[in-house]
Amino acid sequence: MCGIVAYLGPQQAYPILIKGLKRLEYRGYDSAGIAVLHGGKLKAFKKKGKVQELEDAVQHAFPEGSAGIGHTRWATHGAPNDLNAHPHLSGNGRLALVHNGIIENYALLKAALEKEGHHFKSETDTEVLAHLIEEVQKRGGLPLEEAVRVALKRVVGAYAIVVMDQEEPGKLVAARKASPLVIGIGNQEFFLASDATPIIEHTRKVAYLNDGEIAVVSLREGMKVRTMQNEFQTPFIHELDLELESLEKGGFDYFMLKEIYEQPTTIADSMRGRINVAEGWARLGGLESHIGRICQARRIIIVACGTSWHSGLIGEYLIEDLARIPVEVEYASEFRYRNPIINEEDVVIAISQSGETADTLAALELAKEKGALALGLVNVVGSSIARITDAGAYIHAGPEIGVASTKAFTGQVALLTMLALILARKRGAIEDSYFRRLIAELADIPNKVKKVLEFDSEIEYIAGEIKDRHNALYLGRGYNFPVALEGALKLKEISYVHAEGYPAAEMKHGPIALIDEQMPVIVIATNKSAYDKIASNIQEVKARKGMVIAVVTEGDEAISGMADFAIRIPDTEEPLTPLLSVIPLQLLSYHIAVMRGCDVDQPRNLAKSVTVE
Ligand code: G6P
Repeated sequence: MCGIVAYLGPQQAYPILIKGLKRLEYRGYDSAGIAVLHGGKLKAFKKKGKVQELEDAVQHAFPEGSAGIGHTRWATHGAPNDLNAHPHLSGNGRLALVHNGIIENYALLKAALEKEGHHFKSETDTEVLAHLIEEVQKRGGLPLEEAVRVALKRVVGAYAIVVMDQEEPGKLVAARKASPLVIGIGNQEFFLASDATPIIEHTRKVAYLNDGEIAVVSLREGMKVRTMQNEFQTPFIHELDLELESLEKGGFDYFMLKEIYEQPTTIADSMRGRINVAEGWARLGGLESHIGRICQARRIIIVACGTSWHSGLIGEYLIEDLARIPVEVEYASEFRYRNPIINEEDVVIAISQSGETADTLAALELAKEKGALALGLVNVVGSSIARITDAGAYIHAGPEIGVASTKAFTGQVALLTMLALILARKRGAIEDSYFRRLIAELADIPNKVKKVLEFDSEIEYIAGEIKDRHNALYLGRGYNFPVALEGALKLKEISYVHAEGYPAAEMKHGPIALIDEQMPVIVIATNKSAYDKIASNIQEVKARKGMVIAVVTEGDEAISGMADFAIRIPDTEEPLTPLLSVIPLQLLSYHIAVMRGCDVDQPRNLAKSVTVE
């Protein structure tokens, strides 16, 4: 979703901003813009479409200046067009502002400002904020940071903003409430951004702004942070642990493909130092001191969105099956607004790749307020969710740039498997021999993922056979039901093909009506316990002329014989099959998207990090 980048220092701001905006492209956006301050004058350039289009439009008028702000916009209020793109200027042209979030009371503020004579050029909520700050400045003659603080007191909603004032050069003011903002501290220079990706090539030293904080970065006075109540804060400076290469495609055509192929490594990284096969233990350092309380929990509630919600469902199967603790999995957006019953005996686990998803963050805050133990399984280090939890474990998948989540998903499932095993052993719910077998199998999963990847060209062939279909149905049972949901989501997200995931047996209660020779049905048929039942479901599809693509276990004959195409994956213990069975589905959707000419890494309308609700 919207991305912010800003620079203040001795260098030319424009190239830094453009490069930063390109780094932020992965978040999802539909227009881009920059404003640069030079010789006491603000110059802004805004363009619908890609950052490249902005660059092409600006290249003949390279804007000089060593202070600037930039933005990639994901439209909320007003269509994606040049006018609605950020930065927005105040009415007097003195201020430029970029914003990520939503000003919920913008209509009321706008009406009041219009009465004061303000005219608006765009349909956005953000422009209203620029005018509001201008109005406060006019009335109070206040310095920029104070005008921002006073104006924000009237704002309801979520925001990360950076503001520049042509009458106060050498200074940027930033503020945050519920949307992320990171400040990179260089040598006499500052880099502000929605996440660390535009910052890493300039400095490793960063401070994360907390909710309700306002930061001023100034060439003369350095960085100062204060709260909305005007209390000065001492920012904590972190050292970024991020490699620049992880933000590049590294020879792959798309980030998504690179990330699919990284999974043998990223799954291994998620387990590094956390399991020991020889000694037969599993351990999650960040959760260790809370394991007793989790074991005693009345129930565990998992909150998440999108792909992370699917991994949460697998978590439910794992924890209930192995550790025998009741688990509920909730869409974060529903949970937070449905007045849920939560108390101190509950444990709430937020699962999130970005650690910034607005609904997941708010759901966790709600759980904390009600006294539940708030845990997080998060990929992005230092993200908002990671910072508000009581405890948690990082996924260690490295930056995930493709909008369609792949390696973060398998990392989440690996973490949930370890958590379920730890709880199972602590509660005495699992035989020691089974525990050790699962640990050993888990350790071998990265090798088995490598074997699945060897079937890529076969999967590509199958993709060619179904690429022009308009619908697809994904079926799975037990542990593979959430995988069916995830396979369908992957196809929808990047190929724009309508797809549904269903529990295989539920097919008879509706989707079977859709099956004809035009309907490819992807069946995950690895389950040992439900093999015959899945075979019957496949017969039901075949009887109606559906095309069956079956994901089966190596050596399988019966189902492979019935299916039009079979994709073979190595055998493993049933609770671990999602870590293997999801890989062919990721590849299938990837190849279909490429064949259909889709923008795999930045699919239309989607955002990587959904920072508004
Ligand atoms: C967006 C992304 C998905 C992701 C979901 C949840 O919809 O496009 O890939 O699964 O948000 O994001 P999170 O960062 O919380 O896992």
